[in-house]
Amino acid sequence: MGFKIAVAGATGNVGREMLSILAERGFPADEVVALASSRSVGKEVSFGDKTLKVKNLENYDFSDTDICLMSAGGSISQKWSPKIGAQGCVVIDNSSAWRYDSEVPLIVPEVNPDAVEGFTKRNIIANPNCSTAQLVVALKPLHDAATIKRVVVSTYQSVSGAGKDGMDELFNQTRAVFVADPIENKKFTKRIAFNVIPHIDVFMEDGYTKEEWKVLAETKKMLDPKIKVTCTAVRVPVFIGHGEAVNLEFEKEITADEARDILREAPGCLVVDKHEDGGYVTPVECAGEDVTYISRIREDATVENGLALWVVSDNLRKGAALNAVQIAELLVERNLIKPHATT
Ligand SMILES: NC(=O)c1ccc[n+]([C@@H]2O[C@H](COP(=O)([O-])OP(=O)(O)OC[C@H]3O[C@@H](n4cnc5c(N)ncnc54)[C@H](OP(=O)(O)O)[C@@H]3O)[C@@H](O)[C@H]2O)c1
Repeated sequence: MGFKIAVAGATGNVGREMLSILAERGFPADEVVALASSRSVGKEVSFGDKTLKVKNLENYDFSDTDICLMSAGGSISQKWSPKIGAQGCVVIDNSSAWRYDSEVPLIVPEVNPDAVEGFTKRNIIANPNCSTAQLVVALKPLHDAATIKRVVVSTYQSVSGAGKDGMDELFNQTRAVFVADPIENKKFTKRIAFNVIPHIDVFMEDGYTKEEWKVLAETKKMLDPKIKVTCTAVRVPVFIGHGEAVNLEFEKEITADEARDILREAPGCLVVDKHEDGGYVTPVECAGEDVTYISRIREDATVENGLALWVVSDNLRKGAALNAVQIAELLVERNLIKPHATT
């Protein structure tokens, strides 16, 4: 007997990717239900070689559903996740609504799988921000080896991180530049076509943006509260795939060769690091891939025990949908949930 899974936000960038990853990985589901807003009721979305008709989240009864993969945004999650959890369905949420709640585990299965057991307090598990997910996959094995003291990270984030409206804006503005049409900024604060914008999410009192704060708070929650993190988050005109330039300071000595060997063996990581033209991975190449690519590993002589790296991953997969499905797999592998139909 398999599980009954709902995907809420199934018409969105992340929701569609969740459906295809559930099918690709053969998740043990007897039934998969696609949910979105009333606007999308009756629309069709793909699930492997099948199509599913979208139902309305508002009218859906979760009492016989085992897991809800939620990717419908923060305010929807804030309203619905506690109600869904109270009906006995475990919510794995992609928004930032629950990530910093001490009663909600924030999980990247390669980094802190044991923390998942804390989900029973609220029946909610949080998925990290896309930039944090790929960052901690690369940092965890290095932290275990030489203890990271400080992280300086600059992100190069694709427009799909801002949902399907973000992708449409890059497409429409790029077209408008070529045909000399007027350029409209709706989703982003400045033109994104042929430009970069050093501003993602709202500004906070200290001048950092919320996106930058999320990388700091989530790295501390999942990896180690003692690590110091500073971040500059930048939106770039790329459709899929986030890049990150990362500078690390360690407590113990670690060479670039040692780091390369450690990362070659680490779960979820793939090292592509040849010191030649094209011997590194760029966002376009990581789209549709599951791993986090690490390139440009080198010693940073400006600090004691310093390393610099370039980290790239598909933000819709490891940064969102894949990580959520991996969390669902973790619940099943560890026997932490049973299908409702058998209870
Ligand atoms: N994109 C990323 O890289 C990424 C990474 C990590 C986390 N996330 C998070 O994942 C969530 C979804 O992101 P996305 O990129 O997939 O956004 P998106 O492409 O804009 O899709 C949003 C989804 O939410 C649904 N939705 C909106 N209002 C709703 C309502 N009132 N009731 C039910 N469903 C509703 C939409 O359905 P309709 O089509 O019916 O409007 C759509 O399916 C966000 O919280 C985002 O922060 C995204």
